[in-house]
Amino acid sequence: MNGKALAVLGCSLLLLVLAECQEKEKPHKATEKKATKELKANELKPPKAAGQRRQQAAAKALKAKARGKPTAPPSPVQPPASILTRVVARGQFQKVPDALTLAAGDTLELRCRGRSVRWRFPAYLQDEEEGRLRIKHFDRYSQLLVVNAAAADTGEYSCWSFQCRDSECRAGEDRMGKAFIFFTDPQELFVPTEDYYEVVQMRTNHPTLLPCQVTSPLAQVTLHREFPPEEVAVDGVDISYDVKRGFVIHRPRPSYAGSLFCMAGLDGVRQISTKYMLIYINYPSSAPKPTVSASAATVRVGENFNVTCTVFGEPEVAVDFTWEYPGQQIGRPPYVRERADLARRGGQVQKESESILYVDEARTIDEGLYTCTATNLQGTTAVSTRVRILPATPAPSGARSG
Ligand SMILES: *[C@@H]1O[C@H](CO)[C@@H](O)[C@H](O)[C@H]1NC(C)=O
Repeated sequence: MNGKALAVLGCSLLLLVLAECQEKEKPHKATEKKATKELKANELKPPKAAGQRRQQAAAKALKAKARGKPTAPPSPVQPPASILTRVVARGQFQKVPDALTLAAGDTLELRCRGRSVRWRFPAYLQDEEEGRLRIKHFDRYSQLLVVNAAAADTGEYSCWSFQCRDSECRAGEDRMGKAFIFFTDPQELFVPTEDYYEVVQMRTNHPTLLPCQVTSPLAQVTLHREFPPEEVAVDGVDISYDVKRGFVIHRPRPSYAGSLFCMAGLDGVRQISTKYMLIYINYPSSAPKPTVSASAATVRVGENFNVTCTVFGEPEVAVDFTWEYPGQQIGRPPYVRERADLARRGGQVQKESESILYVDEARTIDEGLYTCTATNLQGTTAVSTRVRILPATPAPSGARSG
C-alpha cells in the first residue's frame, strides 16, 4: 500500500467519524425510529442501516474531492423537511403540524412527496365505500383526499416514500411524514366505534389502553366505573390520558377490573364512550423454568420409579405440564399426579408447581428420555432426563429363604 492510498483511507475514516458526530446531533431520531417500526408492521424491507448510508455518503464525498469538485456536505447532515404537506387552498400549501384540528364536513387534502408513496390512515376510512377517500399517485407526489370528513376519520395519517430499483423497493429512513388530525363534531365527542362494549385484557406488567379517542383536543375527558358508579382517579402516573389514544393504565391491578367507560364534555355537551369490560389476567413475567429429576437414574426391571418436574413461579400463575416418555410407544397409560403449593424462596412467596410421572414395574422399554414440557401464558420450556433400565437382580447365589 502506497502513501497516497493510506492518505485516502485516513481521509475516509475521518469523514466517517465526522458523519457519525453529525448523525448524533440530528434532532428527529424519534421520528426515524417510529418510521422503522411502522414499516415493519407493513412487512416491508427495513430501511438501509444508517452505517451503510454514512459510508456511502463518505465515499461519495471522497469521489467528488478526487475529481477536484467542491465537496457537498454529506446528505444526512441536514434534517430533511417533512414530505407531508396539506393543501389549504388551490396552490396554497401548509406544513402539517403534529396535530391539526378540522371540522367534520371539511375536506382534507394531503400531499406526500416521492415517486412511490404509501399511505396509512384511520381504520374507519379503510372500509370507505361512499368514495369519500381518494388516493391518486402522480409522477412526483401522491395525493390523499378525504371529502366530507366525519368524526370517525379522526386519527393518524402518515405516508412514506420508497426508492425502487429493479423490483426491489426500500423505504428511505427519513422519507416519512405523519400528522394526527381531529375532525370535530359537536354531536360526536368520541370517535365512534362499532361495538357497544369491548372486552379489554389487563395483564400484569403490561400497560393497558382504553381507546376512547376524542374528536376534539379540547374535550374534557374523565374515566368512570359503572358499578359502583364512581369516577376513577387519573393521576398521570398509574393512569394517564393521551388525547390521541385514550386512557392508559400503566400499572394494571386486579382492583381495576370491571366495567369502565370514558366521559367527555365540551361546550355543555356530555357524552359517554363505549364500555370497556376490563378483565385482569395474572400474566407471568417469563416462560416457566422447569427442572426435572428421576427418583433414580438407573432402575432394575420390575422396580417402581417416578420422574418429577418442578416449576417455581409467581403465585396465581398457572402452569401446564405435558410429558413425553419411552413407554408411550407401547401405550403405557400416563400415570401422573400434579400439585401446587406456595413456598417461600429467597424471601419471596412463590408457587411451586409439580408434575410427577409414575412408572410401575419397570420394563426394558422404559429406558430412555423423559421430557417434561411446562407452559404458561408467556411461553413453553422443555427439560429432559435419562433413565437406564438394568436387568432384574439375579437371585443372589447361595441365598436361602426361610
Ligand atoms: C418416587 O419413587 C421413589 C422410589 O420408588 C419413592 O421412594 C418416592 O416416594 C417416590 N416419590 C413420590 C413422590 O411418590
